[in-house]
Amino acid sequence: MRLLDELRAEHDLIDRVAGSLRTFAARRAKGECGSGDGAAFRRFFRLWAGAWHHAREEETLFPALAEKAELSPAHGPIAAFVEQHHEMAKVLDALDPLLDLDALGEDDARRLVDLATVYTRELGRHIDAENSVLFPESELRLRQANVLELEGRAPADEELSARSDGERLAAAWPFTADAGGVRGEGCIVCPSYGTTCRGVEAEWWNDSEWEEFSDHLG
Ligand SMILES: [Fe+2]
Ligand SMILES: [Fe+2]
Repeated sequence: MRLLDELRAEHDLIDRVAGSLRTFAARRAKGECGSGDGAAFRRFFRLWAGAWHHAREEETLFPALAEKAELSPAHGPIAAFVEQHHEMAKVLDALDPLLDLDALGEDDARRLVDLATVYTRELGRHIDAENSVLFPESELRLRQANVLELEGRAPADEELSARSDGERLAAAWPFTADAGGVRGEGCIVCPSYGTTCRGVEAEWWNDSEWEEFSDHLG
């Protein structure tokens, strides 16, 4: 499905720019660079990762899963991913004023690094859970409901220009991996697993899927 392919490609760029943000924050904290690119990081994460990408999932993909594939938006993966979008937005709100603060004191510098770490760590696990669980399940369940493509709105000019900011930032700032972060596949990497979501099998599988599964076990 083209929508899911595009969302995956957007994840790739968001992930790359998250690695660049970690580099930027670390270098800012050491006084090795100015605040010049801070505003571009803000535009990218607010407008491309948030207003475009997260909103596209919430406005196009999740309603289709609820309406066509009869998956409840009130609990389970859909509710969990929406909640994660809100949690990340809160961290970004706190990070926002530090991104292009010229006179960065010692406390501000520590906060910049901490918040960039929390934000990008949450984002990485969110992306892994969407890529490895949400998107494959969505493709399957929408196909079963005869939904082969989903159309949403087109990106606004300012969103496209925020994407260009991201491409430039990813090239300008080397990628720093999140040394303390856990990346991977399956519900186990999802920040909501075991707290607000019981996992995709418990939340989404119906009786016949469980039967088929136990038949395979034989
Ligand atoms: Fe998402
Ligand atoms: Fe996503």
